[in-house]
Amino acid sequence: MDLSVYKNILSDSYIKKGQDAINTKHKIIDSLLYHKKLPEEGWTDKMIEDLLLELTRHTNLKNILINDMVFKRNCNIHHGCSIFDVKRLKKEEIHSDAGIIINQLANSLLSELIKLMGIKRPFECAVIPVATGMSVIFSVLTFRALKPNARYVIWSRIDQKSCFKGIVSAGFIPVIVDTKCHNGEHTTDIDCIQEHIIRIGAEKISCIVSTTSCFAPRACDNIEVIAEICDKNNIYHLINNAYGLSNRNLMKRINKASIRGRVDIFVQSTDKNLCVPVGGAIIVSFNNEIFSKFIDICSEQMSNCAAIDTAITLLHMGRKKYVELLHMGRKKYVELLDECETMYKYLKFEMLKLSNKYNERIIESPGNPISIALTLSNVPQLHLLQIGPMLYVRNVSGARVVTANERKIISNFTFERWGTHCNKCDVPYLTAAASIGIVKSDVDIFIEKLDKIFYNIYFNK
Ligand SMILES: Cc1ncc(COP(=O)(O)O)c(C=O)c1O
Repeated sequence: MDLSVYKNILSDSYIKKGQDAINTKHKIIDSLLYHKKLPEEGWTDKMIEDLLLELTRHTNLKNILINDMVFKRNCNIHHGCSIFDVKRLKKEEIHSDAGIIINQLANSLLSELIKLMGIKRPFECAVIPVATGMSVIFSVLTFRALKPNARYVIWSRIDQKSCFKGIVSAGFIPVIVDTKCHNGEHTTDIDCIQEHIIRIGAEKISCIVSTTSCFAPRACDNIEVIAEICDKNNIYHLINNAYGLSNRNLMKRINKASIRGRVDIFVQSTDKNLCVPVGGAIIVSFNNEIFSKFIDICSEQMSNCAAIDTAITLLHMGRKKYVELLHMGRKKYVELLDECETMYKYLKFEMLKLSNKYNERIIESPGNPISIALTLSNVPQLHLLQIGPMLYVRNVSGARVVTANERKIISNFTFERWGTHCNKCDVPYLTAAASIGIVKSDVDIFIEKLDKIFYNIYFNK
């Protein structure tokens, strides 16, 4: 914008100041679009709005949409886009398509975040508009395209439905490997995985699906050894890292696994790591051929919503849920992660005190850096089922109760003791997690509410 047109009504110094401000803003926007780097300091909403306005200068979604709220919700970006376009179009082929530009921006910012979190090896990544469970379908279909005769998928059991459903929906035969209980902690049964490979034959096995982040006392799978096994047997390795992007420990383990053996794709959720609405996943691969195949499988038209939310959140870095909220960038994010790790220790300490008070115990699971399990051995069965709703009505939604006696049937497969990740675990327990954004007062309020509920139940008040 050229302010010199106002020279008859405004003083020269006023025009200069205004022009300087506009130029600075444009420089920041141009620099972001050129370098696509995560800014050191988070942007204000106004600045992000200006960026979106700049990108959509030539579009007018208002002519197409009936409703103003829908218009605003989509930030005037009405084009969907294909990852193929985002990843493969050359610069000169992209003119003013805001959809592609915002998608590229989201991917570049994510790529910075992934490196920041501990992935050191070269990789490709993309945000796609489906939740993590659905992204598993695309991932295993990618492997099918590359190893068409392999019909089996080995799955280290994790009692979360969507990933398992993804394997079955993609038409594979799942081979369920129960976790092994070691001092109360549930770990990967590597021997059983190896036995299955020998029994079925490596050439018939498409991939092994492992999981990093889950509810205690299930530990992160032994992804380093699984990576070695996959490498040795020429089997693909998919890691479900749903919550793990915001955990440096898990990200470093993925990096290590990819060095020791093979990690072909790892997927994580946008909502669980970036505090955006459900419906986005981040696909990462260390292998160009596999990444290209993934793009082939799910190219064409896709919604841009997940990319828009991701780009905005990463630019703003931390509205509300992230520590001192506004103006947060890369530096603050690292502080936030440190805080999250500290809060995990604090939550564990407070849960330990509570467990002593009610003669219960914490199930130690050193392989799980996010979630903590507290036994409910002395709670009558009837009351077990009441704890979840009691917490819910008190606005506690993160904690969950595992009764250890539920049977679940998913796509004709029966899971005994659903929730425990294992057929043999018979101790009921409650899990709580310290995820990104949690602060000390959240822990204090949670413990206070849980204490009151326990008091009523244990002392029958
Ligand atoms: C281990 C695991 N995998 C996958 C998911 C599903 O993630 P999404 O909701 O993004 O599909 C969850 C959700 O709780 C999870 O805990």
